[in-house]
Amino acid sequence: MANINDVAERAKVSITTVSHVINQTRYVSDDLTERVRKAMEELDYHPNSLARGLRSGKTKTIGLVIPDISNQFFAEISRKIEDKGYENGYSVILCNTDDDPYKEKSYIDVLLAKKVEGIIFISAGVESNHLEKTIKFNIPIVVVDRDIKENDYDIVLVDNSVGGFDATKYLIELGHQRIACIAGPSPITPSAQRVAGYKQALQEAGIPIDTNLIIPGDFHYESGDKAMRALLALPQPPTAVFACNDMMALGAFRAVNNQGMKIPEDISVIGFDNIPFSQTVYPTLTTMAQPIHEMADLVVDLLVDKIKLHRQRARTNERELNYKRIVLETKLIKRNSCRAI
Ligand code: RIB
Repeated sequence: MANINDVAERAKVSITTVSHVINQTRYVSDDLTERVRKAMEELDYHPNSLARGLRSGKTKTIGLVIPDISNQFFAEISRKIEDKGYENGYSVILCNTDDDPYKEKSYIDVLLAKKVEGIIFISAGVESNHLEKTIKFNIPIVVVDRDIKENDYDIVLVDNSVGGFDATKYLIELGHQRIACIAGPSPITPSAQRVAGYKQALQEAGIPIDTNLIIPGDFHYESGDKAMRALLALPQPPTAVFACNDMMALGAFRAVNNQGMKIPEDISVIGFDNIPFSQTVYPTLTTMAQPIHEMADLVVDLLVDKIKLHRQRARTNERELNYKRIVLETKLIKRNSCRAI
């Protein structure tokens, strides 16, 4: 396999010139540049980008840590982040933690070992104190979607309590009084805030909160099915259900269908996220849309800026002091899974 010496010999230039052409670290005349590129092509020479990156500290790689790639919310945001990262010249290393904090910790170690220039992070749970390492190693990091206890990170997320409030208010405006909520995993912030919005909407409408109508789920499909079965088994079942994410809403659909009942004729269901499945399921799912693509664009722009600033600070060893918290709005998408009572 050809090396940089072979290229220099073939192009009749110095190794330094070849290096400057590859790394664009100094002006090289068009003629010499052409000779070097031609020699690289003829010798099928590919510079070792990892070695180059480790030397320059510019691996042009970012890490993306997400909890559950099987959930279209994370698949969609990952795809958009990868697109935007690629547009900015970065490769993205995807780390799927399966909601497991231990796996999350080991992936942080992997990303640090691979010298990523920055990390985009969606927490598996609440405890993310192993993120401290990224501070210690001074790696730029942007958090998405899920608040974490420490608040000294830039973060992009939606106003989850307003989203939960709007979803529930919509059902109330359709005339529903017995409205249930299938909650997400309580320690994870988006879920707790959505349930708070649900309760506030009931309180403002003068509807008493019946804790039997609040069933915990785990953001996965099966938990939505199980929660809906429990709700339908109540002496007084609900006439409408707010599921704190679309995957659980789709699981609830299965429970209703298995009982020989119909949505929305027998029960209305509203979700949260607006994943692609929500438009293809029958009936189509009414849901609170998160601006997934806008979130992805914002986090990549934030991280790329932080990486640039980080390089400047590296020379002055200055620490970052101010962090951004960008809160976006959800939007009610009316489809066919809810009806007036
Ligand atoms: O569907 C997965 C949920 O977890 C989404 O609502 C998203 O907000 C994430 O936190």
